[in-house]
Amino acid sequence: MLASSLVALALAFPFAVAQDLSVPSTWRDPSTSLSFLDRVSIAQNCINTLTAVLDTGTGSFSGLGYWQNANVLSAMANLDYFTKSTTNQQAVTGSLNAAFSLYADYDQYGWWATAAYYGYRAYGNLNLLNHAIATWQHVSNYVITASDASSGKQPNKDFPIEGSCDGETMVGGVFWRPLNDDTSVNSITTGYGLIFLFLKCAHLVRESLYIHLHPCCNSANFIKATNMNSGDLVLDTINAQDCTRSSSSWLFTYNSGKYIEGLSVLAFVTGNTSWTSLMLEVVAAATKAPAWEGSDGIITEGADVTEDNDGVGFKAVLIRGLAEAWSCNTGNTALRTLIRSYTDVQYNALLDLASNSSSGSTWYSPAWEGPGPTSFIPWGQLAAVDVLVSAVSVNS
Ligand SMILES: *[C@@H]1O[C@H](CO)[C@@H](O)[C@H](O)[C@H]1NC(C)=O
Ligand SMILES: *[C@@H]1O[C@H](CO)[C@@H](O)[C@H](O)[C@H]1NC(C)=O
Repeated sequence: MLASSLVALALAFPFAVAQDLSVPSTWRDPSTSLSFLDRVSIAQNCINTLTAVLDTGTGSFSGLGYWQNANVLSAMANLDYFTKSTTNQQAVTGSLNAAFSLYADYDQYGWWATAAYYGYRAYGNLNLLNHAIATWQHVSNYVITASDASSGKQPNKDFPIEGSCDGETMVGGVFWRPLNDDTSVNSITTGYGLIFLFLKCAHLVRESLYIHLHPCCNSANFIKATNMNSGDLVLDTINAQDCTRSSSSWLFTYNSGKYIEGLSVLAFVTGNTSWTSLMLEVVAAATKAPAWEGSDGIITEGADVTEDNDGVGFKAVLIRGLAEAWSCNTGNTALRTLIRSYTDVQYNALLDLASNSSSGSTWYSPAWEGPGPTSFIPWGQLAAVDVLVSAVSVNS
């Protein structure tokens, strides 16, 4: 008994020292007094501005890019999941079924797979779970296995690969694109693979089917060992052919956000607290990262009001990942307070500084420090929607 507690302490200790889960006193307005029903209505109203431009025949929103579409559908499903409602069910299910019928090879990025998973979680629709599993099966052909690393060859790539980079393993890394000559392994794809496989595992465990943990742990371990900086933030890309890396200043919210989400589910499913400790480290770093926020705590990344680009939606993925960590860790008050406060900083910035309601519906700018937009900016609504949906959950 004593021995096993000591082992548990020893495992927890190396990560436990540096976590600072306190809420900085400089953050702007880290709480809300809006009621649950008000928060639900603010989130649904934003969704309604997007469903007004949704083509359910393709699952695409006019003015948004391919992977951004799946992010909106994710937030729509999550609002229904948090409120136990079916308001968005038809639009989500119809769009996902349409998109998956259009893309027979599924999407290598795995982004639509997580949207399909969230849809399954909200509505219990097995068709959606099957889309998610089929996508993962496709993506899993592009994971670096232990035998790939030792042979220096990945079966679906036409170049030799490095089994380790800077002395750290490449096992568990996931190639960004399925093209046989594309050498990039990136954190977002690996993070999506990790989260997805674990979400899937969580359900398969619940449904007593089977469990297949190793690829998930390998991917979690790959990011930890090989693709994080010394400040606990997740880096972007590493070239599997020659170990060159994306610039160390390429620090994007969503890489850490997807990792936080994946680690939360991984810790929850395995009960291994060393993943929880690592998740806490990444949360502490990602909520206080000078790379994407000032001392007021408001995220400044991806603030382009003139044209859409992938970067404007990254921050929404961080906020969604934090909301998942909040749900998975009911016993950790400091963590939950930090996540709620960070989410409310963004929420209040959107409502007070970056919105315009003069048209009758509320428009949000992708620049969360403001000013409010003077027209409807679809990618501003996209970036806002996960904050508005998460604020429903983390303030309850
Ligand atoms: C928990 O995960 C860590 C990796 O972070 C691993 O080294 C350790 O063996 C795992 N513990 C158990 C009991 O599986
Ligand atoms: C809100 O948008 C309207 C256009 O519908 C514009 O005339 C007005 O100046 C905007 N308000 C602010 C505060 O930017």
